[in-house]
Order: sequence, then structure tokens, then C-alpha cells
Amino acid sequence: MTPLVEVHGLRFRYDDGTAALNGVDFHLNAGETVALLGPNGSGKTTFVLHLNGLLRGQGRVSVSGLTVEPKNIPAIRRKVGIVFQDSESQLFMPTVLEDVAFGLLNRGLDSVTARGRASAALETVGMSAAAARAPYHLSAGEKKRVAIAGIIAMEPEVLVLDEPTASLDPPGQRSLAGLVADLPQAKILVTHDVPFALALCQRAVFFQAGRIAAEGPVEEMVCRFDWHFAFERSKSPR
Ligand SMILES: Nc1ncnc2c1ncn2[C@@H]1O[C@H](COP(=O)(O)OP(=O)(O)OP(=O)(O)O)[C@@H](O)[C@H]1O
Ligand SMILES: [Mg+2]
Repeated sequence: MTPLVEVHGLRFRYDDGTAALNGVDFHLNAGETVALLGPNGSGKTTFVLHLNGLLRGQGRVSVSGLTVEPKNIPAIRRKVGIVFQDSESQLFMPTVLEDVAFGLLNRGLDSVTARGRASAALETVGMSAAAARAPYHLSAGEKKRVAIAGIIAMEPEVLVLDEPTASLDPPGQRSLAGLVADLPQAKILVTHDVPFALALCQRAVFFQAGRIAAEGPVEEMVCRFDWHFAFERSKSPR
């Protein structure tokens, strides 16, 4: 079976000379959910920005057999939906519904179809009641859900979530995990949230200094790299 996402030998250097990716090999199979773990600055966000051509490094990136290169970018962007690390700051329309419909209208859908799909996406993320509200008045967790709605409304094949639980309280983290688990897409979850990764993924890759230092079952990765301390502490009696 050809993987849905395939990356070989990916290298990338920012304009200021920072070598952010130093030869990354990665694959994601259809129906799979993989965690991207690793310390701050190890290249996780830089890596995911290559998956729909927002950044272009050396090496090969393909999605559903399509190479990420200029002629394929529009098709690739329909296949890969990325919810950015700072997605909440990217909500800018007057109402939540308009925000979620924005990408669909931009893609040329008529407004009735776009609003219908946006409403369905809001329902999926449990935010229908906020459709007419102003996005900037929502809480961080609510904004994250709306940002996810804006991406799933576009019906991507691969969903990439970069630190989706970062600003959420523990109940919010758990409820977001339930929501994400129910989404049908193959997923790449960039996260420092060990319980979230354990709940949703079988496999994890561990980034270190712009490389994948190890990969394997998620339990093994969090233990091997001592990332389980928060999780273990939460289980141990006081
Ligand atoms: N626009 C930029 N210009 C220059 N260097 C950058 C830029 N963005 C990121 N970097 C650098 O690239 C490296 C990888 O950063 P990246 O944001 O991909 O890490 P990350 O693993 O996502 O970290 P975090 O867990 O903090 O989100 C870091 O050294 C960072 O300082
Ligand atoms: Mg990051």
C-alpha cells in the first residue's frame, strides 16, 4: 500500500541560516493517526508546513502520490488541511459561520453550499450555537474548535493539528481528544500533550534537532524520551 504522505530526505534552512530540518524521512498511511513529539525548536512546525507547500525544502514530499511542487499545490492544499499552532489568531471574519465558510467561498463554492458545509462543520465540533457570534469574543478552546471547523469544512484527506490542546484546560483537552478521535481523516498530531498523544495515536515519531531521532509505538516513545513525567505524576498517589 502506498502511504498517503511520503517524505524522503527533507532538508530546510530558513533565510537567516537556521538549519531547521536536516534530513527527515516520514510516512503516514491511510487511516492512521501519528503523533509528532519532540522538544521546542526541533523542527515539528517547520516539517508540517512542508506538507502542503507553505515551505519548500530539498528532498521529496508527496501526498496521495502527488509530489509537492508548484503545479500540484492547489490539489495538495485540498488534500492536506493544517490547523496552525496559532490558528486562533487567524479568525478574522465578523461571525463564526462566516469564518468557517471563508475557505470554501475562496475555493469558489456558492454561498448556500458554503454556508451549509460550514454549519455542518460547526455541528461536528460542537460549536453550532456560536455560529452568529464574533470569533474574537470566544474562549481559547472555543476558538480552537472553530479553527478546526474551518479546516474540516474543506474535507481534506489528511488533517494536521499543530499543538491543538496547548491553550486548553484539562477537561477541554479531553473533550478535544474525543472530537479529534471521531474525525475520519488520517491525522498528524504535533503535540507536547502526552495523554492526548496516548489517547489518539498508535505510532509516534520523535523530532530532535531537525531529524526524526526515533519512531515506534507511542507508549515507547514517551517513555524512551522521558516525556511521560507529567502523565506518570498524574497517575501516582500524592
Ligand atoms: N521564520 C523563521 N526564521 C528563522 N528560524 C526559524 C523560523 N521559524 C522557526 N525557526 C527555527 O527553526 C527551528 C525549528 O523551529 P520549529 O518552529 O519548526 O520548531 P517546533 O519543533 O515546532 O517547536 P515548538 O515545539 O516550540 O513549536 C528552531 O530553531 C526555530 O528557531
Ligand atoms: Mg511548533
